[in-house]
Amino acid sequence: MSTKISIEEMAAFCKRKGFVYPSAEIYGGLSGFFDFGHLGVELKNNLKQEWWKFHVKQREDIVGIDGSIITNPKVWQASGHAENFEDLMLTCTKCKEKIRADTFIEDNLKVAADGMKADEINKTVKENNLKCPKCKSDFEEVQEFNLMFTTNVGPKQDSSSKAYLRPETAQLMFTNFKLVTDNARLKLPFGLAQIGKAFRNEISPRDFLFRCREFEQMEIEYFIDPEQINNCPYIDEVKDHEILIYSAEMQEKKQKPKLMKIKDALKNKIIKTPWHAYWLALEYKWFLSLGASKDKFRIRQHLNKEKSHYALDTWDMEYEFPFGWKELQGMANRADFDLKQHITHSKTDLSIFDEESKQKIVPYVVAEPSLGVDRSFLVFLFDAYNDDKKRGNIVLKLHPGLAPIKLGIFPLVNKLKDETKKLYSELKQDFETIFDSSGSIGRRYARADEIGIPLCITFDFDSLKDKSVTIRSRDSTKQIRVKIENLKENITGLLNNKKLDF
Ligand code: GAP
Repeated sequence: MSTKISIEEMAAFCKRKGFVYPSAEIYGGLSGFFDFGHLGVELKNNLKQEWWKFHVKQREDIVGIDGSIITNPKVWQASGHAENFEDLMLTCTKCKEKIRADTFIEDNLKVAADGMKADEINKTVKENNLKCPKCKSDFEEVQEFNLMFTTNVGPKQDSSSKAYLRPETAQLMFTNFKLVTDNARLKLPFGLAQIGKAFRNEISPRDFLFRCREFEQMEIEYFIDPEQINNCPYIDEVKDHEILIYSAEMQEKKQKPKLMKIKDALKNKIIKTPWHAYWLALEYKWFLSLGASKDKFRIRQHLNKEKSHYALDTWDMEYEFPFGWKELQGMANRADFDLKQHITHSKTDLSIFDEESKQKIVPYVVAEPSLGVDRSFLVFLFDAYNDDKKRGNIVLKLHPGLAPIKLGIFPLVNKLKDETKKLYSELKQDFETIFDSSGSIGRRYARADEIGIPLCITFDFDSLKDKSVTIRSRDSTKQIRVKIENLKENITGLLNNKKLDF
């Protein structure tokens, strides 16, 4: 069980240990932007690599792309973002403070406000006498605010050179759909995947990495033949998985979420298609495979008023953050909306010839698992964070695959520094390793625990004679003695075994 801490305490921990800093803090930072430190960059890279391995490398039906951040602005006209990617904003009549309307209502009235229209927001603000949190004055009528960051491309700084920073990675998978499909000779059903930066000019960035203006996404567009919407060949892999489900109906009837098997959710038509069920279960499985705590996840269906214009059905994977259940991953059934939009706007045929049905079809995106890297980064940190009162230090029980540093190596005393350093140089070729010789051995173990190093090796006086060292487990603190000649093999075994309770 992890120790509960607030998001502010997590931000302070991340800064103190070198995971994440406010961006360019020496100049006062910039709201919604963060820099990753020496441990943060490793944890983030490991997280992305694990995602890529699970979703792309180990599957035969998904290939990746890496699209550009700035692209032809027509892409965003076709997708609807240039016109419609908006949040409603409240502005104070006196101090002109600007606040995102739905989250402000949710925080103050503890009611769901996602998807509320402008009229309803104005009415709710008036009826509940909500005031500006800064100067306690009234608000103006709510306004729409477009979240797209704009820039200019090239030396001409006018409207003809206007472009956007992408607000999602997804669209590049649609614009490159035909090229990738042909080049990789993909046959339905198949997916395209991408990891990369996204930018949104959020009205009220907050909760540390949870809502920032620059972040990363790991997204998949999974395409099927629309005729095969009820035929998912992978459903048996997940049908017995249990997951906490919060359907639109349960929310409307003010019921509690229910723990259900995937097959029962399908049988009772709570999740409409086996494809959507498969992807929801698979994503949950990915988090659990990397040590996330299973009780903190649920899947919640969007209410009709919340659904984006393109979505037939949307479920969010939610996680219980210290500030409540919040979206971790969106998963919309986007049908053929995007491909059709790009066919119309680019006047390019993006349909594919399907060998099975012997006809040209515009495939359906039956599920778009869209996950934030930064929110996942927080999830793994929250679930790993243990304030161990017995040891008197924090133990960050990160899964070995995610841990930024895999090994610490220490000489018992400074006299043994040279021999230990030799071993350190060898181990460093294969594992992320740190050498530490300062302070007591207990202090060094504690420092290693705090940054999640799974295994620590100590070189002692006996090591000179018996050519062995001790390996200490972060999680159990138990130690085993291992011959140096077998050290690499043993370490690999322990790290791959993922259990550190030897
Ligand atoms: N292509 C679909 C899409 O972008 P979304 O629900 O807007 O859907 C997907 O975003 C995911 O991206 C979210 O579930 C979240 O994990 C992450 N995300 C979105 N906005 C974010 C922000 N401002 N800061 C950090 N992560 C964000």
